[in-house]
Amino acid sequence: MSEQRKIKIGLIGLGAIGAGTYIPILKDAAGVEVVGVCDEVKEKADTHAAALGTTAYYHYNELLDGSGLEAVIIGVPHYDHPAMAIEAFERGIHVLCEKPVAVHVNDAIAMNTAYEKARAIYPGLIFGLMFQERTLPFHRKLKEIVEGGSLGKLVRATWVNTKWFRSQLYYDSGDWRATWAGEGGGILTNQCPHNMDLYQWLFGMPDQITGFASIGKYHHIEVEDEVTAYFHHKNGMIGHFIATTAETPGTNRMEIVGEHGKLVFENNSIQLHRNAESMLSFIHTSPTKFGNVECTLEEIAVDTEAPHNHPYVFNQFIEAIHSGEEHLVAHGLEGINGLTLANAIMHSSFTKKTVELPLDGDAYEQELRERIKQSKYVKNKTVQVEEDMSSSFS
Ligand SMILES: NC(=O)c1ccc[n+]([C@@H]2O[C@H](COP(=O)([O-])OP(=O)(O)OC[C@H]3O[C@@H](n4cnc5c(N)ncnc54)[C@H](O)[C@@H]3O)[C@@H](O)[C@H]2O)c1
Repeated sequence: MSEQRKIKIGLIGLGAIGAGTYIPILKDAAGVEVVGVCDEVKEKADTHAAALGTTAYYHYNELLDGSGLEAVIIGVPHYDHPAMAIEAFERGIHVLCEKPVAVHVNDAIAMNTAYEKARAIYPGLIFGLMFQERTLPFHRKLKEIVEGGSLGKLVRATWVNTKWFRSQLYYDSGDWRATWAGEGGGILTNQCPHNMDLYQWLFGMPDQITGFASIGKYHHIEVEDEVTAYFHHKNGMIGHFIATTAETPGTNRMEIVGEHGKLVFENNSIQLHRNAESMLSFIHTSPTKFGNVECTLEEIAVDTEAPHNHPYVFNQFIEAIHSGEEHLVAHGLEGINGLTLANAIMHSSFTKKTVELPLDGDAYEQELRERIKQSKYVKNKTVQVEEDMSSSFS
């Protein structure tokens, strides 16, 4: 990062991600001055403010108005992301927001609209998202290969990601977790925003989505803990996504098939099967009934030492404030894409119909409200558990 003045920053939310991930980042970050931390739980705000030698706030508007901050990190449960971000934008305050950007697309649209409006007044206003999985070396390599075009026309992407195992204790560790009112969804809203974002980052948005979601199939929760989705793209490519929080050991395997070859990403390895000729041409020119295209297999080298994860996304956010939004790992305006996939899968599952994009945001929001209203779910007693946050990442 270039030598620049320190950015005055604040942090809202001092729970698992706030205290576990951001506080250590902020302690180490040379390029910022932490002017305040905020949590509605006074004790948390006081403890972390004292440890950082900064001021404690108990309401986010007090932090936004009283601390003199230029940038804020939002690390509270998802439903509150839009209101906090919008309040920050209106004050010309840069935002780094945790995933998911919002719970439903209508809220994401409201955030994006507020950001665009504020940017007309504050042209350098930065809106970043914590999609740290985009920076993981294997994901970067997949992106590089897909964008490089050597696979030719893509025909299929299949991602099985069942490495999101969560015990009942996890769901019992916060009263907002895995409820329609507190979180607005299950695995798609909490764990898989990364997967949904990566899917659209790699392959673009599908035009049709069919989803199957099981509600509380393995856990005592009222939201989905198992999902299968089918994506159809305008160019004919199809995609599959399978996820659950109930399998252990889990699988994380992605196959990307193009006319010129197949990429398989699994167990920290990317294998490339390279076709000697286009399989789409070969279908019509093959002199045999059953023969396959000749292909070679190679392991793709990946630089696993490249900087990545939360600290890298955070540093790029600070760099973007100094030098422009092209430095962002994930622009806030892009958050709606993965969210649309997640909402559409659930909408399809609820209505038992294929959803055509753009998603009817009002219909989905209405469905969510109905679920909140109709909820008879009684949560197990909340259990407080201290655990290393890094073990939560797939
Ligand atoms: N990027 C990632 O991989 C990643 C990992 C974990 C969590 N997250 C995201 O971070 C967010 C928080 O998750 P968590 O696991 O830290 O939750 P958590 O329940 O552990 O912590 C949330 C904290 O926010 C505080 N809070 C809640 N509402 C508030 C309000 N209105 N004002 C001030 N403080 C408030 C709570 O008191 C609590 O301390 C979620 O959106 C989650 O999806 C992202």
